[in-house]
Amino acid sequence: VEKVFSGVQPTGNLHLGNYLGAIVNFVKMQETHNCIYCVVDMHAITQGVDVWGGPAELARNTREVTAAFIAAGIDPKKHIVFNQSQVAGHAELAWIFNCVARVGWLSRMTQFKEKAGKDRENASVGLYDYPVLMAADILLYRATHVPVGEDQKQHLELSRDIAQKFNNDFGDSIRGHGFNDGQFFPLPEPFITGPATRVMSLRDGTKKMSKSDASDNSRINLTDDADLIAQKIRKAKTDPEPLPSEEKGLENRPEADNLVGIYAALADRHKADVLREFGGGQFSSFKNALVELCVTKLAPIAGEMKRLVADPGHVDSILVDGADRARALADETMRTTMDIVGFIRKR
Ligand code: AMP
Ligand code: TRP
Repeated sequence: VEKVFSGVQPTGNLHLGNYLGAIVNFVKMQETHNCIYCVVDMHAITQGVDVWGGPAELARNTREVTAAFIAAGIDPKKHIVFNQSQVAGHAELAWIFNCVARVGWLSRMTQFKEKAGKDRENASVGLYDYPVLMAADILLYRATHVPVGEDQKQHLELSRDIAQKFNNDFGDSIRGHGFNDGQFFPLPEPFITGPATRVMSLRDGTKKMSKSDASDNSRINLTDDADLIAQKIRKAKTDPEPLPSEEKGLENRPEADNLVGIYAALADRHKADVLREFGGGQFSSFKNALVELCVTKLAPIAGEMKRLVADPGHVDSILVDGADRARALADETMRTTMDIVGFIRKR
């Protein structure tokens, strides 16, 4: 059976990149898979408190991501939606994986280098260990498919390396526990798909759209209203040329490529098809169409999010119910994993 797991950090400013790179695919995969969608609050605290904003912000942002999942169309009854810290197995499995992963592997992670910046000595140990916790998230449910944006590709490769090394290191014990092929953990597949796997900043087509960009005009937040969306798109950086009629005309035009990609993803069309319609025209008329599409797709989500976060008790009950169901699955994996490793426990 194919099982899906993915996570989003509650670090504020959920944006169009999160939506098109990840959440849209979360929604689609519900039709064909058993899905677990996690608000990764333990990952959120890996950077300084000035970044994650403190306890009240963390709780607020956790509810906001949960609301975004549900507003976008994730069904928390058919699938599982919960916050990571409620299920102890994430931290427990991460410890075992800490002893499987190699320092050299983590030292190659580009996201750590970016987030740690110049003052690497002063980064938290948690930030360094972030990809190991992510591997634990996925493998705690022995998930096989992980929908994410392009920026998570390297972390997914590390998850596969950890799964493989665990299977190798404990091969005999794994077979002794009845897994005759020696594969206790599956090697999870990244699912990076659609025309917007890497949405770029509206102010600079060479920079990723990000929650932490100082300029709010660089991103469209899922909570932005119609006027703000229109204003940000009209201000978005472009080049002076008209739009090309073919996809290869987007090469070396990062801003044009980004806006066409966003349009295609929101309309569920291919970029080539969008260019067939708008190619040769000016940016101003394309931008008008993009504003309309963005508002049509995002305004209902923003409205539903607002309605949901106004009732924090209801959102919390969804997370508690999801965590109860996640824990039941996680406990089963942890019992077998601990037996495989040789840890003694009550029977
Ligand atoms: P994060 O906010 O870092 O937890 O990211 C949540 C999900 O959104 C992950 O699957 C990311 O890969 C995805 N994501 C974040 N930023 C972007 C972006 N600019 N374009 C596409 N996907 C993104
Ligand atoms: N690292 C992911 C991000 O920043 C979030 C995440 C944590 C995740 N655990 C995960 C994504 C497990 C997929 C699967 O976007």
